[in-house]
Amino acid sequence: MPAARAQGTTARLDTNENLVIPRSAASAALAAARRAVDVREYPDGGAERLAAAIAGHVGVPARCVVVGSGSDQILDLAVAHLLARRSRVLVTDPTFSFFEARLALHGMRAVRVPFGPDMAVDMGALEGAARGADAIYLDSPNNPTGFQFPERRLRRLIRSFGGLVIIDEAYAAFAGYSLAAMARAQENLAVVGTLSKSFGLAGLRVGYAVMPPAMARAFASVIQYPYPVSSVSIEAAVASLGERGAAAAREAAAAVTSERARLVRGLSAHANIEAFPSQANFVLFDAGGSHRQVHRALAEQGISVRLIGRVGGRRGCLRATVGTREQNSRLLMAIRDIMG
Ligand SMILES: Cc1ncc(COP(=O)(O)O)c(C=O)c1O
Repeated sequence: MPAARAQGTTARLDTNENLVIPRSAASAALAAARRAVDVREYPDGGAERLAAAIAGHVGVPARCVVVGSGSDQILDLAVAHLLARRSRVLVTDPTFSFFEARLALHGMRAVRVPFGPDMAVDMGALEGAARGADAIYLDSPNNPTGFQFPERRLRRLIRSFGGLVIIDEAYAAFAGYSLAAMARAQENLAVVGTLSKSFGLAGLRVGYAVMPPAMARAFASVIQYPYPVSSVSIEAAVASLGERGAAAAREAAAAVTSERARLVRGLSAHANIEAFPSQANFVLFDAGGSHRQVHRALAEQGISVRLIGRVGGRRGCLRATVGTREQNSRLLMAIRDIMG
């Protein structure tokens, strides 16, 4: 759960929303939804049009796509119903905190492989730990480090593993590759995605997963709720996935990528800060022992970033969403003032 932000926050850089895509892109989609929807009626139960639009965007057949109320909901249902009770689930440490909380809630056991001080995971260690696990969950790129697992090694791990593998690609739009197409025919693979980040539609709550057809059928018709996505969200998302919306998402992703590099350079210019390379729309940086003071001082200037703490043996990490150019400049200037 995101912590409550301090009053007076003017730059929300703590929840990895897409603040770069113009607000007008979503407004146009909402206007289309308003024209199309009669909220007296239930939504399209299977959300088939939405699944088809997502399938077109991702480049996979619609029969491989399931949708949900945010990818959070899909992950929750996957943990509750695709895994056997008391499964040992391989995750990295750290990983997406919501997923770990769901594992605990459903009585699953996490097998954790830590990040190193370079904010990368040793793939040999991961492969070794997989031998003692029943299922695997990897967020790739990882939240909060921004690390994307090396593609070849990850594909090999998935192919050689006997149980379910969930690859969470919430941030793939900002990364080097996606495994979504692999999930068409790889029996043990579900690749989870979301329109929250790539399309800047976090408030609409539209997530999806690409799975082999048999798994998708079972998920959509047995596991998922009858009306998982509201009619307003369905119509607005379908409109966003059209040509203009997709172009806006692509442009925003390109802007995030170049601003991300500027943030990493600007942060790393300080002797007491080390910023790590990222494949997501956020940057993790180690502020040594002074991360709490930095967090507080930024909050006083209306800038909220996420206090992460110890990661990969580093003493005190913070995570900042890549915002608009103006927001990123404000963050860099504030850090310059704080670090002196
Ligand atoms: C790795 C990861 N997966 C999934 C999500 C959830 O996204 P959604 O808005 O689709 O529920 C997040 C949100 O921050 C995330 O960091």
